[in-house]
Amino acid sequence: MIDIACARGLSALPFSLFLLLQATGSVYGADLKSYAPQVNVDCPDSLLRVFSASQQSLSGGENDFVSSRQSVVNNAWKDWLGDASQIGYNSDLATSVVNDSKVGIAVSGGSFRASLYGASVLNALDARNQSSKDAGTGGLLQVSSYISALSGGSWMVGSLYSNNFPEIQALVTGSNELSGWMLDKDLFFPDGISLHSDENDAFYDNIKASIEAKQATNTFTSLTDPWARALSYHFLNGTTPDNFYAADSAHGAGQLWSEIVNVPAYSNHEAPFPVIVVNSRPLGKAYENYLALDAPVYEFSPLEFASYDPSLSASINTKYVGSRLSNGSPVNGSSCMQGLDETGFVFGTSSSLFNSIVSQGIGSVTNADWFKRITDLFSDVSDARDTEPDDVANWPNPFYQVKGDGFVDTDRDWLQLIDGGSNGENIPLNPMFVKSRGLDVIVAVDSSANTDDAWPNGESIIYSQNRTSNILKDTHRAFPPAPKTTAEFISTGTNMRPTFLGCDAVSPSDYPLVIYLPNSPPLTGGDPVTNTDTFKLEYSANHVQMFLDQSYRNTIGGFTPGSNNADANFGKCLQCAAVDRARLRADIERSSFCNSCFDRYCYDPNDPPSSNEVVNRNLQNTKPDDVSNSASGGDSDGAMVTSVGWGSVVLAVGITVVSGGLL
Ligand SMILES: *[C@@H]1O[C@H](CO)[C@@H](O)[C@H](O)[C@H]1NC(C)=O
Ligand SMILES: *[C@@H]1O[C@H](CO)[C@@H](O)[C@H](O)[C@H]1NC(C)=O
Ligand SMILES: *[C@@H]1O[C@H](CO)[C@@H](O)[C@H](O)[C@H]1NC(C)=O
Ligand SMILES: *[C@@H]1O[C@H](CO)[C@@H](O)[C@H](O)[C@H]1NC(C)=O
Ligand SMILES: *[C@@H]1O[C@H](CO)[C@@H](O)[C@H](O)[C@H]1NC(C)=O
Repeated sequence: MIDIACARGLSALPFSLFLLLQATGSVYGADLKSYAPQVNVDCPDSLLRVFSASQQSLSGGENDFVSSRQSVVNNAWKDWLGDASQIGYNSDLATSVVNDSKVGIAVSGGSFRASLYGASVLNALDARNQSSKDAGTGGLLQVSSYISALSGGSWMVGSLYSNNFPEIQALVTGSNELSGWMLDKDLFFPDGISLHSDENDAFYDNIKASIEAKQATNTFTSLTDPWARALSYHFLNGTTPDNFYAADSAHGAGQLWSEIVNVPAYSNHEAPFPVIVVNSRPLGKAYENYLALDAPVYEFSPLEFASYDPSLSASINTKYVGSRLSNGSPVNGSSCMQGLDETGFVFGTSSSLFNSIVSQGIGSVTNADWFKRITDLFSDVSDARDTEPDDVANWPNPFYQVKGDGFVDTDRDWLQLIDGGSNGENIPLNPMFVKSRGLDVIVAVDSSANTDDAWPNGESIIYSQNRTSNILKDTHRAFPPAPKTTAEFISTGTNMRPTFLGCDAVSPSDYPLVIYLPNSPPLTGGDPVTNTDTFKLEYSANHVQMFLDQSYRNTIGGFTPGSNNADANFGKCLQCAAVDRARLRADIERSSFCNSCFDRYCYDPNDPPSSNEVVNRNLQNTKPDDVSNSASGGDSDGAMVTSVGWGSVVLAVGITVVSGGLL
C-alpha cells in the first residue's frame, strides 16, 4: 500500500499513478497520520510572488482559471437570463453585454449557523435546483467567478469543494454517495452525553494520533489542530456514520486545499474560484474585543496563500506554504514543506477563535465540557519544544524579511493566524474588493449574530467600509454607499431584508454593486429557527432541515413592503442587480422593470428606506426540538458574550471580562 503522505513528497511516483490514486478514492492509503506535513522536501523554482500596492497582480494560475471559467460563465448568463425580456432588456444583454462581467459571493462566519445559512443561500442561487431556477434566483451561483468564505462559512465552502461541488441538499443531509454533515453528532462528544464512553474516547485517541504525527515533524501545533480535526469529520468526505470512530480511516487527514485543483468541478471550471480568509495577530498585539484594522488579512486559495494588503502584497504557493524562507528564498534547496495546507487546518485556522475565548474569559465556553476536553487533550500531546502560543494557529512565516518594516510581522518566524472575522469584518469582502480582480457585483451573505436575538445588524459592513477606506485605499476598490452605523442599518431595515448597495454608480469603476443578504426572520412572520447560538455544536436532523428550508424560502422570497408576502419578482430583481454594472458599461438605460426593483431593494443614502416597511417579523428564536442529550450544550441559550469572530457573539450584560493570558 502506498502512503500518499509519502507519495506527495516522492517525486519518483509517476504522475499518472498519482492521478489514478486521486481519482479512485481521494487519498488512497491515507491514514490519521497523513495529517503531518512533509518537511525538508525539495523546493520548487518559484515559491513566492512579491508585488506592490501600486503594481498589484494576480497569480498566472488564477488569471488562467478565471478566464477559462469566464466562457462557462458566459453561457450560464444565457441560461439564467434567457432573452432578458423578462427584465425589460434586449436579447443582446445576455449574449454579449453581460459577457465577462464578474460576480463574487462572500459567505460570513458564525459557526454552524453560518455553514447552514450560507448553504441555503447558495442553494437558492443554484440553477441546478429546479425550484431556485423557477424562482429566478437560481443561476447567480453559476455566473459567479469567485466565492470567499471565513470561519463557519469556510466549513461549508471547504466541504463543497472537497465533495466536488454537489447540490446543497445532498451536501448537507447526505445522499447515496455522500454522508452529509452529520450535525446530529456533537462536534466534541459525537457519541452523546457520556463524556468518556468508549466511542468518545476513541474519537479523542484518533484526533491525538493526527496531532502527534504533526508534532513529530517539529511543526508547532496548537488548540487549532484538534479543532481542525474534529471539524474534518463533518465537512470533509472521509467519514461516514459507520466509520466515525474507526482508527483505520483517515477522516479527511491528508486532504489538501492545494489539491482542490484536481477536483473535477474545479479543473473543469464549473465552480467559482474559492478563497478562505484568515486574520493574524501581529507581534505584540494582544487585544480585547476586535483586532485593530491594520492587522494583516490573509487569504488561502488553492493556488496561493496571500495578502493583498498594501503593507504586504505578496503570496506563496499554497502547496508549499509552511516552507521556511528568508528574504524570499528557501534557506536551502531542500528546506521546503508540503502538506501543511490540510483543508481541515485551513478552515480550522479561519475559525480559530481560542485567543478571543481565552482573552475575554468567555465563561460559557471555557467552563464547557468540550473546551476542557480539548484543552486536556492538547496538554496531553503538547510538546515541550513547542514554544509558540496555543491559542492561535501557528504557520511558519513565508514572508520573513520580504517587505521590511512596513509589514508588521517581517521579523517573525511564525505567523499567528486566527479567525477570519477577528477584526470585525465577519463577511470576507477583502478578497472581493481587490482591484486586480475587478468584480462588478458581490453578494454579501451575512449570518453574524450581533443583536440580542442573534441576528446581524450590519456591523461587519461598517468595519469593511472603515478598512476599505482607511487601510486598503491603494489596493482595493471603494466601498459603495451603505448605512454608516449599526443604528442606521436597523432604522432603515437593511438588516432585515435583501438590500442592494451602490445602485447609483455613475461609472462602473466607482465601486461594485453589493447584494446584501442578511440572515433574518421568516418574511411570513413565522417562528425563526435560523438565529441559533454561535456555540451550538449539534443540530438534530429535524432542525437542520427546518433551518435549510426557512432560510431558503427567505432567500428566494425577497420582501414586499408592509406585507408578509414573498415578492414573486425577487428573482428577476436579482437578475437586474447582477447585470447592472455591465448595463452601465454598455451605456444602456436601466429598464423600467429594473427601476421598480431598485426602488424597492436599493439603499439610497439620499432617500433611505425605513424599517417600517418590514412588518410583523418575529425575532425570537424558536427551538424546534430541544436537544436535551447534547453534551456541548445543544440548544442552551448559553450566556452570550462580547463580539468575537464566529460571526460575533451577542453582547449580554453581566459577563466579567477576565484579562488576557494565553492558554
Ligand atoms: C472525496 O471527494 C473527492 C473529490 O471529489 C473524491 O475524489 C474522493 O473520491 C472522495 N472521497 C470519498 C472517500 O468519497
Ligand atoms: C458572449 O458569450 C457567449 C457564450 O460563450 C458567446 O456565444 C458569444 O459569442 C459572446 N458574445 C460576444 C460578443 O463575445
Ligand atoms: C431545492 O432546495 C429546496 C430547499 O432546500 C429543497 O427542498 C428541494 O428539494 C431542492 N430541490 C431539488 C430539486 O433539489
Ligand atoms: C475605524 O476604525 C478605527 C479603529 O481601527 C477607529 O478608531 C475609527 O474610529 C473607525 N472609523 C470610523 C469612521 O468608524
Ligand atoms: C536545509 O534546511 C533544513 C531546514 O532548516 C535543515 O533541516 C537541513 O539540514 C538543511 N539541509 C542542508 C543540506 O543544509
